[in-house]
Amino acid sequence: MILVTGGLGFIGSHTVVALQEKGHNVLIVDDLSNSSIEVLDGIEAASGIRPAFTELNLQDATALASLFEKHTITGIIHFAAFKAVGESVQKPVAYYQNNLGSLLNLLAEVEKAETPIPFIFSSSCTVYGEAEELPITENAPVQPAISPYGNTKQIGEEILLDTVNAIPNFRVIALRYFNPIGAHSSIAIGELPLGKPQNLVPFITQTAAGLYPKLTVFGNDYPTTDGTNVRDYIHVVDLAEAHVVALERILEGKSKHAYEVFNLGTGKGSSVLEVIQSFERVSGEKLPYEIGARREGDVVAAYADTTKANNVLGWKTQRSLDEAVASAWAWEKKIRNL
Ligand code: WQD
Repeated sequence: MILVTGGLGFIGSHTVVALQEKGHNVLIVDDLSNSSIEVLDGIEAASGIRPAFTELNLQDATALASLFEKHTITGIIHFAAFKAVGESVQKPVAYYQNNLGSLLNLLAEVEKAETPIPFIFSSSCTVYGEAEELPITENAPVQPAISPYGNTKQIGEEILLDTVNAIPNFRVIALRYFNPIGAHSSIAIGELPLGKPQNLVPFITQTAAGLYPKLTVFGNDYPTTDGTNVRDYIHVVDLAEAHVVALERILEGKSKHAYEVFNLGTGKGSSVLEVIQSFERVSGEKLPYEIGARREGDVVAAYADTTKANNVLGWKTQRSLDEAVASAWAWEKKIRNL
């Protein structure tokens, strides 16, 4: 059984569907702190299979131990974490306690297991900060984190590297995502940002749905082609499929090292204005927006060098920016009954 922690979340739920489509048996644990139980119905609608689910906070080591006693866990994909950059600055203790405590409790179970359990870790391109060179390869230096959230990803990777060297035959793959967007083609699952969205694409679709009068573009005086920030927007289904490829790489004994890292992106940078133009192209809607002040902590540009993921992991994105933005808009219209 593959344990997917945080499996009711945005990337988690899409990964569960991708696992099921490849015939894997999935157990989701989620504490519902930033997700809703209805996502289980969405997963079943998308894949036709209702995954097993246990509501559980991974900080509860006792509950987690009994879960591992009850089930034969043959792989772990670990998403469960608090992930709002801004919020992490306000609540650092909660972020370190939850994100690192959960990881450590999971690893304590891996240590106890007779045979080490393959482990996929949800990391982030945040670890690179403002990279000196673009596109960003896995050898780019990890920069000092600019938020407790980003730091929990960096420390998480360090904990895994230390652990993999101490547990014989333990295999870990850390996946550093760029900017996940979009929704499954069934639009039975998608991004459910609770409260005001921080991220660009949900803000675009919610503005177009009438929840906000306009989008504010956080600065157009950056040293980029059109002055707005550049990011690598990857379709969430492409990203989900990469997790299955990574897990199967370990299950099939193909890992080259005990600890491997892959950047997951399209390899193409898109500016904020280009994403707005993509939305207008695929929706036929005019998006109301204004140019506002820069947002604290934004890097100018970040997009992936996908060579290692393509050539070593054997995975590459199949879907375009327009397809991803169109799927995000289809999902928004569905949940708003538009
Ligand atoms: C993208 C661009 C904004 C909203 C974050 C996390 C990162 C990862 C992905 C978890 C930026 C601009 C945004 C708006 C705007 N999450 N923007 N108006 O900041 O690249 O990455 O999500 O791992 O850790 O930091 O994504 O979508 O917030 O912003 O102009 O209303 O859109 O300035 O240039 P970001 P984002």
